[in-house]
Amino acid sequence: MKKISPVSRSGRFARGPGADVAQFTESVSFDWRLWRQDILGSLAHAAMLRKIDVLSKAEAAAIARGLDRIAREIAAGKFKWKPELEDVHMNIEAELTQRVPAGAKLHTARSRNEQVALDVRLWLRDEIVLLLGEIADLQRALVSLGEKNSTVLIPGYTHLQHAQPVYLAHHLLAYVEMLERDCERLWDCHLRVNVCPLGSGAIAGSTLPLDRVFVAKRLGFVDVNDKPQLTQNSMDAVSDRDFAVEFCADAALLAVHLSRLAEDVIFWASAEFNFIKLADAYTTGSSLMPQKKNPDVAELARGKSGRVIGNLVALLTLLKGLPMTYNRDLQEDKERLFDTADTVRATTRLMAAMLQNTQINLTACAVAANDPALLATDLADYLVRKGVPFRQAHHTVGVVVALAEELDKPLNLLTLKELKSVDKQFGRDALDVFDLQRAMAKRNQTGAPGTKEVAKQLARWRGQLS
Ligand code: ARG
Repeated sequence: MKKISPVSRSGRFARGPGADVAQFTESVSFDWRLWRQDILGSLAHAAMLRKIDVLSKAEAAAIARGLDRIAREIAAGKFKWKPELEDVHMNIEAELTQRVPAGAKLHTARSRNEQVALDVRLWLRDEIVLLLGEIADLQRALVSLGEKNSTVLIPGYTHLQHAQPVYLAHHLLAYVEMLERDCERLWDCHLRVNVCPLGSGAIAGSTLPLDRVFVAKRLGFVDVNDKPQLTQNSMDAVSDRDFAVEFCADAALLAVHLSRLAEDVIFWASAEFNFIKLADAYTTGSSLMPQKKNPDVAELARGKSGRVIGNLVALLTLLKGLPMTYNRDLQEDKERLFDTADTVRATTRLMAAMLQNTQINLTACAVAANDPALLATDLADYLVRKGVPFRQAHHTVGVVVALAEELDKPLNLLTLKELKSVDKQFGRDALDVFDLQRAMAKRNQTGAPGTKEVAKQLARWRGQLS
């Protein structure tokens, strides 16, 4: 039998993986984008190794210089990524060690299991802050559109049927509220992302006297009171991806909100509604029908919610059967996570830009909002003020609506005599309820679409978002 010399072996392994296995298992083709976080983590780890005297001053300085140089090369697009080195962590470390002999000491008391958890946490921490900025921009675009058209009324819909009149601004501010809850959820998620796993080793920490607090502080893993945030269980730390699931769940709900907004935009831009005019830049034509102007940006915003929801389900499915602790399956988290972050960020940004370039068709909105049937409930309230129980008032106005339909007249053109034929309690002032301006002035509870209340809400959001 042929003997393999111990020095020609690659550690435990007699030979490396075949080309097909290497291709199947590599991740550098997508995790290279964690390079900045990987280098930051290595710089902090090296500084800590210096502090506990695993590295000499000169070694630590050489490693820091080497990593800095590699960072510059990557940023300049001059670094050669090697798929045979599997992932971003190995690529950077191998290159460093080739240039700086002390690089071979960098991985002391460290595992890729915690390194990848660290890199993803650092990356996601920044990504959440960037996304929050995009959401705030979209909220500002919604508020601005509402302010510019603060007197515009439209029908409010339930079941996509005319319900009651609302200010366009009130409709837009509904999305501002939804987006604000998305921001709150993302900030909450940020709390659990912002915890340092370094020092967990592969699964069971290290026998060396690591200074975890030093590393956590250096990487900014601190709470609002500057208290370092460290993972408290090494097994959990290397296998926990809850923070990624949380982000994908928050992003999925955000994507659903964006999809609903897109749906409203698509309806409003249709010939049937005609409430808005989208700028050409956010639409496309048809290759066949010369008259077409299609709301593609909004349609894709709606469509892309599908992949964001899918990514959440993929992550949950990935995790559900994993035994403790790290398993290579976890490598599959990154593309889902990256895709989610990229998709919601781009969608949010484009929706904001589209709304900033949207015009309101005042005439079409006014025609639609002047449907007197939108104020049928106000007519019931009129009877309630006269002491009629609401259930009865509702029934009576139902009969009035049927009569108007029978006479083929709008509700507000019924005569007093016709109204009285249904209920004697209708007086001369009954038809005043169809004065839209007055009707809107009356709805002034907190959260209602009344004239004063909507102005108040617009001002509140303007202040909060500036
Ligand atoms: N590329 C791996 C991942 O994304 C890094 C960790 C690999 N750890 C290991 N023991 N093979 O999860």
